Amino acid sequence: MPETWTDVILETGCPELEHLIALRAKGWQDEKLDQAFTRQRYIADNADKNLNMTWYKRSMTVMEEIDNYARCITPTGPLRFLDLGCCPGGFTSYVLERNGMARGLGVSLPVDQGGHVCCLEARARNRFQLYFADVTSFFQLSSSVIAHPRLRPGPPQMKPATFDLVILDGHQLRTQICDYSQPWDIDRLLISQIILALQCVRTGGKMVVKLTHPERVLTAKIIYLLDILSEDLVTFKPETMHTTRGSFYAIATGVGNGAEGAQMQEMIEGLQRAWLETTFGGVEGNGRNADGSDFDFVITTRDLQATYLGRLVELGRDIWNIQAEALDTWFKRQGIL
Ligand SMILES: C[S@@+](CC[C@H](N)C(=O)[O-])C[C@H]1O[C@@H](n2cnc3c(N)ncnc32)[C@H](O)[C@@H]1O
Repeated sequence: MPETWTDVILETGCPELEHLIALRAKGWQDEKLDQAFTRQRYIADNADKNLNMTWYKRSMTVMEEIDNYARCITPTGPLRFLDLGCCPGGFTSYVLERNGMARGLGVSLPVDQGGHVCCLEARARNRFQLYFADVTSFFQLSSSVIAHPRLRPGPPQMKPATFDLVILDGHQLRTQICDYSQPWDIDRLLISQIILALQCVRTGGKMVVKLTHPERVLTAKIIYLLDILSEDLVTFKPETMHTTRGSFYAIATGVGNGAEGAQMQEMIEGLQRAWLETTFGGVEGNGRNADGSDFDFVITTRDLQATYLGRLVELGRDIWNIQAEALDTWFKRQGIL
């Protein structure tokens, strides 16, 4: 019997993932890797204005890559978009440049809570509204009213079913300043963004979702969820940024019009239960990590294995491949391999 979900995938025969896992195992044994990661983390956590501007420009290129691959930004006609975790603003800048009629709303962590500053050029700002807030703290993340000092209303412009495109690129920051910080904030951030996106995207709209590690069961269930709700789903790993990491983008088209599009509300409610658990559940009532079983309302792991494994491997193959190639090159450069 396979022990983990990754083993389940490997048992189907997936040389790309096998290669990646072997490379990671080799790299982790070398202490040079630890030192390299410590250096990288230090630089990221102490980003100055110049580095922020570099991230801004590189994010613009990443969105261009995603768009070239998935054709997700309509270049003409009105386009309303919501960009969650939008700063420094490269994705937004690309969308506004690509479509002169696009109008957007962005939500990003306040700078005094450790969030990034916005680098968007002044000329783009008249078609974009920026709202600084922690997206994990909005009332609408819960299906019932919860009176807790950490919760507040979301931006009034974030109305249900209004946006043609919702981008989810919020990334948990080690530098976040928050009275309620917990190690599982990374799960809360992802779940919160998916709830808000599914609430706010119009039927037939698009979503661009940053995910990590398709070989993890939680990620696999989120991919499945997007797949059944949407008419079309593709995955893409940009080649200009974070190639050595496990991150990638899932691009869903025709959200709400998929085979199980009618289940949208039910799925949002399941996600809201997962948000509640990760925020106020656990032994001490201050949340806990999410695990695969929190997403059994989408599909059980057994059914995922029985019905979706082939499709998952098809969606994961290029991502594992690109990461493995990048790691191989990087390890060699560090003198690790
Ligand atoms: C990878 S950056 C996004 C880059 C962006 N897509 C761009 O094009 O410039 C991740 C962003 O998520 C934001 N973020 C992290 N935690 C957040 C939270 N809880 N609420 C809102 N934004 C958050 C960070 O401040 C950061 O700006």
